[in-house]
Amino acid sequence: MKTHQYEAVVVGAGGAGLMAALYASKGGANVAVISKLYPTRSHTGTAQGGIGAALGNLEEDKPLWHAFDTVKGGDYLADQNAAKVLAEEAIDAVIELELMGLPFDRTDEGRISQRRFGGHTSNFGEKPVRRACHAADRTGHMILQTLYQQCIKQEVKFFDEFHVVDVIVNNGVCVGVVAVELGTGEFHVFHSKATLFATGGWGRVWSVTSNAHSLTGDGAAVALRRGVPMQDMEFFQFHPTGIYRMGILITEGVRGEGGVLINGRGERFMEKYAPNIKDLASRDVISRSIYLEIREGRGVKGKDYVYLDITPETVNRYLAEAGETRRIDRETVEKKLPDILDFCRTYLGVDPVKEPMPIQPTAHYAMGGIPTNVDAEVVLDDNWTVMPGIYAAGEVACVSCHGANRLGTNSLVDLVVFGRRGGMAMAKYVKGADFVSLPANPAREIEAEFERIRTSKGKTRPGELRSAMQKTMMEGVGVFREASGMQTTLNTLQELKRRYQTDLHIDDTGRQFNTDVIEAWELGCLLDLAESTAVSALNRTESRGAHSREDYKARDDENWMVHTLISRKPGLAPDGGAGDYELNTKKKVDQSLAETDDRFKPKVRSY
Ligand code: FUM
Repeated sequence: MKTHQYEAVVVGAGGAGLMAALYASKGGANVAVISKLYPTRSHTGTAQGGIGAALGNLEEDKPLWHAFDTVKGGDYLADQNAAKVLAEEAIDAVIELELMGLPFDRTDEGRISQRRFGGHTSNFGEKPVRRACHAADRTGHMILQTLYQQCIKQEVKFFDEFHVVDVIVNNGVCVGVVAVELGTGEFHVFHSKATLFATGGWGRVWSVTSNAHSLTGDGAAVALRRGVPMQDMEFFQFHPTGIYRMGILITEGVRGEGGVLINGRGERFMEKYAPNIKDLASRDVISRSIYLEIREGRGVKGKDYVYLDITPETVNRYLAEAGETRRIDRETVEKKLPDILDFCRTYLGVDPVKEPMPIQPTAHYAMGGIPTNVDAEVVLDDNWTVMPGIYAAGEVACVSCHGANRLGTNSLVDLVVFGRRGGMAMAKYVKGADFVSLPANPAREIEAEFERIRTSKGKTRPGELRSAMQKTMMEGVGVFREASGMQTTLNTLQELKRRYQTDLHIDDTGRQFNTDVIEAWELGCLLDLAESTAVSALNRTESRGAHSREDYKARDDENWMVHTLISRKPGLAPDGGAGDYELNTKKKVDQSLAETDDRFKPKVRSY
């Protein structure tokens, strides 16, 4: 077993991890980034349509309007201090990315081009605004490449294809992590003063998802297993437009460029659900509207999908009807949305400039995660008690700037803004802190768990359990929920966990590049996160943002302007069980903007 020592360790090499590593390193810390993938394969690379910032390059815009949309889009569960930081620092972050060399699309005057996105408006909801700065439909890809190059220039040390499987805690202080080197199967201990988790989300809990196979929530799960609570797990966003059955993301930028949603009767149904901003309403609203259309028999060909139409003929007809002078043509669509055209042509045999795309909502983004303050420090309770030495940023974290539903483009803002803050906070912390000693044999427990998995000779292959988990989560804890369905899902998950513990079958018993074992271990993480999601969802007896209950249809501000914190009995294997979870609903939502500005007070949302 090798032991490495770095002042700051960053787990995950997506946008948040790279930004944190860059800033920790610029602040003087010696930094290692540990990533289970080659860094530029991280999931940030799949973010398509843009990064929101109130630059006002094409029309008037203000950070306060951006903060308002973020709070309203989050159905008033967003911590308003965090939403304010996000909106204000977005501007500087985007300009910094541009100066680092990110090739944003340009206006005719050479400024960064901006497009419309759902829920982003001017003047406190008056009309849609162009706020999403974009590099075609490859914005996340460009951010990832840009930040990786900056980290290389800064001589950050990378451990690629090292998979972090445990966090080491000594007397309440995080002192590092344990990782498996995928190529050899060897365990490594990373001893650190500060460790930041930036491991992304867990969309693989559901069967239809825009998330890559690697999005298995490892960072969240290992923290949960070592006593860190998870916050607001019940809020998981379904993006309205995933490719039918496959879930692959079709960017909201399509609707930002004028694309419309059409049901099986050829109707533009969002006119009914969001008369003001129609296809640019927030994602929770649109995903529910699609489900309602399908449920009432207005899916295409009677099936469970609708169309997303960006054909110039359709779009121009609606633009003319709305009195807009702008028109689109084939060349504009090809230039602005090359990747989604490619996906549809390749995977569906559908050419979006000639015919509409079949789409359905797809599990996309975790609003919940590891609770943090605005400096990415991990907090443990409703008193905001900081756990020394551990940080989180990006999707794995819950700061909570997105509240109950994230607006499109705000994930990329979140990565760079809070990744940067986390990096700066770590640099400051490590200057004043000594290395706290490692406990004796810190990898022993997790090595034993890996050995148990590797030598399992039961009857159930991990893939069977994974499919059953994904199916039950789609059925019971998807876009719509109610108590009995969630309870059935919980019972199923507990049975799956029992089989995971007692009846697993692993074919590959080798140690080198043993993806069989790694995937089985990742499945354990997914099972833990699925269960925490279902337990948190069952407990919240209201509907808000992405948590839509058929048995509690109203939002209940009197009782539920609070975050959920869920913790489980410590232990490395996914053997919690619903009874072993503890829920705390005393953490109040920050409403600091509402204290001086009535427009930020909770209101029933309309679009
Ligand atoms: O629709 C999209 O391009 C996705 C962006 C996001 O999730 O922010």
